Amino acid sequence: MKSISLHIEKTFDFIKEGAIEGFKAQIKAANEALENGTGKGNDFLGWLHLPSSISKSEIDELNATAKVLRDNCEVVVVAGIGGSYLGARAVIEALNNSFSWLQEKKEGNPVIVFAGNNISEDYISELTEYLAGKKFGVINISKSGTTTETALAFRLLKKQCEDQRGKEMARKVLVAITDAKKGAARITADKEGYKSFIIPDNVGGRFSVLTPVGLLPIAVAGFDIAQLIKGAADMEKELSKDENNIAYIYAATRNALYQSGKKTEILVNFHPKLHFIAEWWKQLFGESEGKENKGIFPAAVDFTTDLHSMGQWIQEGERSIYETVISIETPNRELHVPSDKENLDGLNFLAGKRIDEVNKMAELGTQLAHVDGGVPNIKISVPQLNEYYIGQLFYFFEKTCGISGYVLGVNPFNQPGVEAYKKNMFALLNKPGYEADSKAIQEKLKK
Ligand code: PA5
Repeated sequence: MKSISLHIEKTFDFIKEGAIEGFKAQIKAANEALENGTGKGNDFLGWLHLPSSISKSEIDELNATAKVLRDNCEVVVVAGIGGSYLGARAVIEALNNSFSWLQEKKEGNPVIVFAGNNISEDYISELTEYLAGKKFGVINISKSGTTTETALAFRLLKKQCEDQRGKEMARKVLVAITDAKKGAARITADKEGYKSFIIPDNVGGRFSVLTPVGLLPIAVAGFDIAQLIKGAADMEKELSKDENNIAYIYAATRNALYQSGKKTEILVNFHPKLHFIAEWWKQLFGESEGKENKGIFPAAVDFTTDLHSMGQWIQEGERSIYETVISIETPNRELHVPSDKENLDGLNFLAGKRIDEVNKMAELGTQLAHVDGGVPNIKISVPQLNEYYIGQLFYFFEKTCGISGYVLGVNPFNQPGVEAYKKNMFALLNKPGYEADSKAIQEKLKK
């Protein structure tokens, strides 16, 4: 079986000789801290050997629940935010037909839509309008079970589902993925008798794509979760070796670039389907490394689209960035440029070529131009876009993130900074328990 591969040669001109090798001891120590559970945040290492520990019966149970939703729903709403939705969305959008959201339920695959990841009245209202009269179900995902965005959306969706489909059917098509004991989502699921799955205590949100959080929605969308897990498990095995370990190399290269003043990493793709893989990656690295006034800023662009907007900045703006390109070796479809007798558009020089050949030359041309313009370039080659290689990619990024965070000296598994906005929002909304904060914030607003 092929594997994803990493190419870092185009960073060498931008970092001091020996800088990457210089991280060898730190990388080894970081890996040992992960494996031995002796580093910061060591109560959140459940993801480390998750792929190899998922049993066939767990996969069967997920597929069985997915079948209930697939059999009974035209549309399934995945309600969750951050780590509780990005992994599922990344896989579903990468593997779905780009226009599936325009189609009605086809061949047993329900349309998957997302909610609970914003508080926009227009969005939620338009969603409820779209769902009116449709046979829909909801997967309510929240580890804490108390996240406002998700809880608010679920309150509306639960009511709409019960009103439209009746209590009995609603009980069948409302599924919860949450903590084993605590949180409002658990209380509701147990009281209403919903089918529910547990998010393990020791797996944080952004590392939870290979728990039911990611696996159930992906299975509902019609994709092979066993293959996704196999890809991750094979990568877990591969990255247990010290030789040619691509997670070590990527972590060392990132830190070497950061030390040389490259403070922003831009994840680049040349297929719009990968947009949400980048969103998932942004959260993984951003929430894990951005703390204690440190951390590479993770950004992302969709090329060639963004070459016509952000391309200018990347080519000639401040030289504090580097790029990491996810390159898909072979697309899943084949389409050739037709010949045209009149050649009014002057494109006959491309006639007969695959569209992907044009895309690949755009990719290569961009890489050369950006490196010439002072932007170091890392490339991650992915043989094909399917469940197996996405599984490899997920685990590769997770392992790199754990190692890289430890090398940076932070706890990659907490997110204390996320609480600040919540505290203010609750104080402003006079949430019970926030009386003192409400008072303080009103004083602050007067100034
Ligand atoms: O990575 C994380 O922990 C966060 O992004 C959470 O996933 C996100 O805040 C959602 O939290 P919850 O699943 O508790 O609703």
